[in-house]
Amino acid sequence: MADLTTNFVGITSPNPFWLASAPPTDKEYNVRRAFEAGWGGVVWKTLGEEGPPVVNVNGPRYGAVWGADRQLLGLNNIELITDRPLEVNLREIAAVKRDYPDRAVIVSLMVPCTEEAWKTILPLVEETGADGVELNFGCPHGMSERGMGSAVGQVPEYITMVTRWVKQYSNLPCIVKLTPNITDIRKPAMAAFEGGADAVSLINTINSITSVDLDLFAPEPTIDGKGAHGGYCGPAVKPIALNMVAEIARDPEMPGLPISGIGGVTTWKDAAEFLALGAGNVQVCTAAMTYGFKVVQEMISGLSQYLDDKGMTLDDLVGRAVPNVSDWQNLNLNYVTKARIDQDACIKCGRCYAACEDTSHQAIDMSEDRVFTVKDDECVACNLCVNVCPVEDCITMERVEAGATDERTGTVVPAEFGDWTTHPNNPMRRTAAE
Ligand SMILES: Cc1cc2nc3c(=O)[nH]c(=O)nc-3n(C[C@H](O)[C@H](O)[C@H](O)COP(=O)(O)O)c2cc1C
Ligand code: SF4
Ligand code: SF4
Repeated sequence: MADLTTNFVGITSPNPFWLASAPPTDKEYNVRRAFEAGWGGVVWKTLGEEGPPVVNVNGPRYGAVWGADRQLLGLNNIELITDRPLEVNLREIAAVKRDYPDRAVIVSLMVPCTEEAWKTILPLVEETGADGVELNFGCPHGMSERGMGSAVGQVPEYITMVTRWVKQYSNLPCIVKLTPNITDIRKPAMAAFEGGADAVSLINTINSITSVDLDLFAPEPTIDGKGAHGGYCGPAVKPIALNMVAEIARDPEMPGLPISGIGGVTTWKDAAEFLALGAGNVQVCTAAMTYGFKVVQEMISGLSQYLDDKGMTLDDLVGRAVPNVSDWQNLNLNYVTKARIDQDACIKCGRCYAACEDTSHQAIDMSEDRVFTVKDDECVACNLCVNVCPVEDCITMERVEAGATDERTGTVVPAEFGDWTTHPNNPMRRTAAE
């Protein structure tokens, strides 16, 4: 078994799987059971300032998007930060940390955007023995209307300002949790970096309306005839999160800024992808809410097995794919492939034919007895047929070797690399002299 011990901004945990700040980490009862199941750490459900706790809706707070077999693909929520008293949470955090010293216990915080509010809460958290704080600049509903959460995360100057206060009034490692509800994730990440953040975590949830009740004519979940946008998470948001993590990881202006990857992690493979794109660990919410705490066991065994198979350490994996994340203009235009259909695997459904004939390049032939073959002289290698085929690996993309003729263009495939920056059709191309 590969060693999964993780050191993230000086906080050690037996594995890189932390529960994200959300209902699974809202109370001692949950967190103890999560640790017993094997989670390496938790980010406690966001605490607010002292005083009357926030009030949640008493109607439904979740909406969802399902796949055809009712597999949960996306979850939407309108829940606020913890609605339990501050002192109860602090007491429970101290008790859990005392009993699980080897696990990471991070406290998520969201208080008003004033120096006094941050100065007041930080010592209370430090007294619990917690390992670090995460600043919730991401919650996109309810709290943002009160000038907190994503209302802060959308203004880089505020991010820098609050992060500085936190670094000034606390010795704990500070993780800044970013909202994806912005145009360019590098801006808020840079603001956190400039404020002295020890790390960023992302993504929080995405503004969303998952569905509309067509009898009530109101967004769902519906509260007495009305609905509000919520925050979207779960497997559906993973591609957005991966891209944002990669954008930060490859930005030369934030070299080495540690990243905690969040968004749709459900299996060890999802986690490995975040790690390969530069995350030092991952956080999980929806998968635990869907399948229970024991889902972490598949993540631990799967990641260990993968690392053993590859002969890699966890550190070898972190960031391994970052150098291969590039911009479109740098992709090799001399890399030519063609679709290949495995006739033994084909179930003759005709989806590839419909897709290619109607919306791609009319490159699949259907015979009278429903044998599907690719016309190399038409195939542009778009990969659509691969993605719509219901049989995994039935259609694959095969490389046309250098020196062979691409039947579509009638030209010989060059051996050398050639991208858009030097392509003859590019009016801005670089020349040999440059
Ligand atoms: C019901 C619910 C409540 C959440 N509450 C918080 C919160 O209090 N603080 C926070 O930083 N993030 C909160 N989140 C966001 C999660 O921590 C996480 O960033 C998001 O769900 C994406 O991860 P996932 O795809 O694994 O669910 C909440 C998410 C859900 C579903
Ligand atoms: S790769 Fe694209 S163009 Fe080629 S056969 Fe498939 S759908 Fe058609
Ligand atoms: S989509 Fe796949 S299974 Fe269906 S006809 Fe095409 S190759 Fe065969």
